[in-house]
Amino acid sequence: MSENEPLHSTLNETNEAGGSRFVRACLRLPVDRTPVWFLRQAGRYMPEYMAVRKHHSLLDICRTPEIASEVTITAAERLGVDAAIIFADLLLPFTPMGLDFEFVNGEGPVVHTPIRSLEHVQALRTDRTDDLRYVASAIEKVAKHFAAPRADGDTLGIIGFCGAPFTLASYMIEGSSSRNYVETKKIMYSHDATWSLLMEKLVTVLVAYAEQQVEAGADVIQIFDSWAGALSVSDYRQYCLAPTTELVRRVKALGVPVIYFGVDTASLLPTMREMTADVLGLDWRIPLDEGWRAVGAGCAVQGNLDPITLFAPEDVLQGRVNEILKLANGRPGHIFNLGHGIVPGTPVDNVIRVVEWVKQYGVGKPVARNEAASEWAVRA
Ligand code: CP3
Repeated sequence: MSENEPLHSTLNETNEAGGSRFVRACLRLPVDRTPVWFLRQAGRYMPEYMAVRKHHSLLDICRTPEIASEVTITAAERLGVDAAIIFADLLLPFTPMGLDFEFVNGEGPVVHTPIRSLEHVQALRTDRTDDLRYVASAIEKVAKHFAAPRADGDTLGIIGFCGAPFTLASYMIEGSSSRNYVETKKIMYSHDATWSLLMEKLVTVLVAYAEQQVEAGADVIQIFDSWAGALSVSDYRQYCLAPTTELVRRVKALGVPVIYFGVDTASLLPTMREMTADVLGLDWRIPLDEGWRAVGAGCAVQGNLDPITLFAPEDVLQGRVNEILKLANGRPGHIFNLGHGIVPGTPVDNVIRVVEWVKQYGVGKPVARNEAASEWAVRA
């Protein structure tokens, strides 16, 4: 192939071998254009979701495969994105572990008896993950719905997900969302046996849960470590890196790419890279190219529009979208997304506009393979 020959002449040629363009981008394979999806793409900003939510609680939706799959499919189709994330919640595994929680309107999740001692951790069960199979059933329905290629010839990617040990432990220990993670860090710093047993139990449950999702048809597993940014590099390294690496390694061994995601992680990126996740999520606080440099060329990146930019006037929003695509520079391994989830009140039309711009940007702007490789080699 000559230097100036386009990398992709037809979509089929480009996207066929490794599955959908979304999966190929996770693996840093060339794609015809940048794939795009959004964190929390099915949620309260979307009237279709609110219509379902009027009649069902959040947990009812999660636990009823017919409804969870419908909500997942509706959001992906309405937006025209390249991947569907299964509608579920991070905290669902708490129930089979023996930890009761509920979602209180306006307050988020509440765990009634937070974990505070070794005895509490010892009592957590790891043998009832079968109770979570409703999520796998929902994935089966979504996978069946999206089995055939879409009009553009590409197959939609199906994303399963779970929490990471630190972020889940923080909800278990604090009992709700937290600003300073005082109780979590107290256990982390002072109670080695309690912390390590909790990490170990969470990894056991999460691997089994991820396995159910992969068997049901998830193409990729995203691991949410949403609150890892609360940790210093030393603490992340000392208390979280080993169990999280174990989780990533075992989920990858199921045969799917792993996306590892956190917020406020700029300083943690080089350490997170050691886990060898296929893709790292970047939040908007770091320019995409800088974030990519921090994780190195051997890793794909996902991100990183500030979700609040979706409230900006069209010219500002388009400017930010173009900036991200320009910084990615056509290198294989970029998945367009937000730096964190879509928030309630976001105009749906703006989300759809972003999808259209990402799609248009890729068309007619193929990057030559050699150019991409050498450019990246220089930058890395
Ligand atoms: O399309 C999608 O991405 C939706 C599926 C989804 C939900 N939760 C449904 C949900 C996903 C991927 C999650 C993950 C999740 N849950 C995370 C990690 C993602 C992130 O934002 O970093 C976390 C931290 C949770 C725990 C959780 N669930 C919290 C803190 C809250 C309250 C947040 C709020 O804005 O009130 C939830 C509730 C929740 N989970 C909602 C949805 C759509 C909104 C509440 C509702 O519909 O009643």
